[in-house]
Amino acid sequence: MHLQPIIAPSILAADFTKLGDQIKICADNGITWIHCDIMDGHFVPNISYGPMIVEAARKAYPAGFMDVHLMIYNPDQYTDAFVKAGADLISVHVEATPHLHRSVQNIKNKGIQAGVAVNPATPVQQVVPILSDIDLVVLMSVNPGFGGQKFIDTTYERIHELVEIRQKRKLNFRIEIDGGVGPDNISALYKAGADTFVAGSSIFGANNIPLRIQELKSLLHSGTT
Ligand code: DX5
Ligand code: ZN
Repeated sequence: MHLQPIIAPSILAADFTKLGDQIKICADNGITWIHCDIMDGHFVPNISYGPMIVEAARKAYPAGFMDVHLMIYNPDQYTDAFVKAGADLISVHVEATPHLHRSVQNIKNKGIQAGVAVNPATPVQQVVPILSDIDLVVLMSVNPGFGGQKFIDTTYERIHELVEIRQKRKLNFRIEIDGGVGPDNISALYKAGADTFVAGSSIFGANNIPLRIQELKSLLHSGTT
């Protein structure tokens, strides 16, 4: 089973002095998902932004799908605020909450989609009990905290593991790859079975953003043939 591929630009790498314009460029070039990285300076060694920026992104792209990745402890405490800000999907880290099932239900009870993110050194097996309840697994392909890091190659084995479980159990959660994704690996990742691709620096760091988006799209297209 191959789900329709989705590119989710991470605004962490955007130019915040013109965030709205950069999001509109994405929308004008067929991007439907916007990835928002929330960092608390505790779970990860960096602080990014909170619900206000998600709300701004939502305003810039009312029809967009706001994919919110919480790299924070106590995610339950903030679910409401991100839902109000316009999140369509919220992912929590398996390593950041002691009651993963409750955290996922808190999100689903708000009527939006839920995801679970997994760090590179966390066994994929840890999310198996929750897979039938969620819409997305965020497979971290870098250690979370910063954009622009090098892709970790063992991610491929982890994609295979998840794809096998998904097939066996006839589930349909998306597999999102987050970190170090760009023209060099997007098509290999799609072939390996991933379907949702976060791209921060490879999109917003490009000289020509529309051209880079088209390039990533055509690489995904060639991956299907
Ligand atoms: C890492 C974040 C990523 C990051 C991706 O902690 O979760 O979403 O912004 O950035 P790039 O694509 O630059 O690796
Ligand atoms: Zn992310």
